[in-house]
This record gives sequence, C-alpha cells and structure tokens, in this order.
Amino acid sequence: MKPLAGKIALVTGAARGIGRGIALVLAEQGATVALNDLPGEDHRAAATEVLAATGGTGAFFAADVTDETQVAELFAAVRSHYGRLDILVNNAGTSQPKDIFSATLEDWNRILTTNLTSCFLCSQAAMAILSGQKSGRIVNISSVVAEQGALFGHVHYAASKSGLLGFTKTLARTAAPFGITVNAIAPGIIGTELLQNTHGAATTASLAQSVPLGLGTVRDVGLAVAFLCGEGGRYITGTTLDVNGGLYLR
Ligand SMILES: NC(=O)c1ccc[n+]([C@@H]2O[C@H](COP(=O)([O-])OP(=O)(O)OC[C@H]3O[C@@H](n4cnc5c(N)ncnc54)[C@H](O)[C@@H]3O)[C@@H](O)[C@H]2O)c1
Repeated sequence: MKPLAGKIALVTGAARGIGRGIALVLAEQGATVALNDLPGEDHRAAATEVLAATGGTGAFFAADVTDETQVAELFAAVRSHYGRLDILVNNAGTSQPKDIFSATLEDWNRILTTNLTSCFLCSQAAMAILSGQKSGRIVNISSVVAEQGALFGHVHYAASKSGLLGFTKTLARTAAPFGITVNAIAPGIIGTELLQNTHGAATTASLAQSVPLGLGTVRDVGLAVAFLCGEGGRYITGTTLDVNGGLYLR
C-alpha cells in the first residue's frame, strides 16, 4: 500500500513551482490532493494540468489565502468535498527584489500578508477540522533565508519566513495534544519561476554554483513534505527540515 493512501491533503499555491512539486509527490505516495491557488483562468488551467499529472484524484479550489472569507470558504469546500482533511501544506508565497531603501510599507504588508498571515488563516481553519479528528499534519514552507538572512537585502521576505518558524514551533505545542504535528521546511535554492523572477537567470546560475549539491528541484521539497506527512514524521514536531543541498549548515 502507498504510504499516504487514504489521506486528504490540501496544498496552497499548488498551480506551479514548489507547490506543484509537493502535490505531485503527495499524489504519487497515495494522497488525494486538493490543489489551491489564486482565482483566475491561468491558475485554473495550470492546476488542471497538475491534476491530470496526479492521476486526477484531486480537485482545484481557487482562493486567495490572504483573504479570511475566501479561506473560510476554501476549507468549507474541501470539507464538504472530501468529508475530512489530514494534511495542510502552507506553501503559497511570494517575494520581491527590494531592500530597506526601496521597500514601501505597502510592499512590507503585502509580503507579510502573503507569506505569514495566510499561514495563520489556513492553519486556524485546518486546526478546527484536525483537532476534532485528533490527527493531522501541518507543514509550513519557510526558507533558508529565515535562518541565514536574505542575501540581497529582502528584509520583508526574510522577516516573513523567520516569523513562520516561531509560528511553527508555537503551533506545534498547541497541536500536539490533538495528535497533530506541525513542522517547517526551509528550502534553499529551488528552480522555480519565483526564483527566476526574484534574482534573474544570471544571478540564479551563480547562486546555484555556490551550493554543494547544486540547484534543488521542486521534487526534492515534495519528498521532504511527504516524509514529514508519513509514518517517519510521527514523532517529529516543531522542527525545521533544511532542504538546501548544503547551502547553509546550521
Ligand atoms: N523557489 C525557491 O528557491 C524557494 C526557496 C525557499 C522558499 N521558497 C518558498 O516556497 C514557496 C513556493 O515558492 P515557488 O518558488 O514555488 O513560488 P512560485 O511563485 O513559483 O509559486 C507560488 C504559487 O503560489 C501562488 N500564490 C501566491 N499568492 C497566493 C495567494 N494569496 N493565494 C493562493 N495562492 C497564491 C501563486 O499563484 C503560485 O502559483 C513560497 O512560500 C516561497 O517563499 C521558495
């Protein structure tokens, strides 16, 4: 039997990039995957392609996970579609190549809301379901910059990802009595559109050369999520799993 057979997993921001990679691995390991991404035809088309690649057992649920009402509707829809939820992966996120001199308060709020507030809203909605079931897994996608700081001054991005680690540790304590584990993954340099848009092709290539194991793939992150959600993750909570190819060694 596949390790995640019978599990219902919700992955936010899953139409492309790391979220797509996570959805594909979870489906490969037997989970039924509810894909979330922003409303819009482009996202729906991309998600439909991901669903086809997963074997078609999941479904797409459009929602902006920074919006409290849309998050409530998202979890209500997943619950009514599947009757339960076992795994939440808070993956949706964004970045912006701005530093302390160029970032505005609006930029700061947008990055913090997308990367951190969304995790609060989704985890709160998930906890309402998982606590009743007395089991579940929550995985938050942080970043290596949470640990070492961002290389090019992206203070808002680093603050959001570091905040997510404190959030993870604290929620892990609250969730443990309900049989729920909460962990973070800190990816290093993973080849995605976000990476290209943030750093450009030349910087991305030179960054990759500084990593002992080279550029990571979205599948590398997906496999780490699957590990935390499987039997191997049963006694692991409140921790951060580095998936960075040796880029940063704590
Ligand atoms: N790419 C990397 O090297 C890297 C490294 C460390 C951490 N991360 C983190 O991994 C996660 C995924 O990054 P990626 O590189 O795949 O990015 P990406 O931009 O390629 O994909 C992000 C996805 O999230 C969706 N999304 C954004 N805001 C959303 C919202 N409000 N509601 C719903 N969906 C939303 C986007 O539409 C997109 O499909 C992010 O949290 C990012 O910070 C990425």
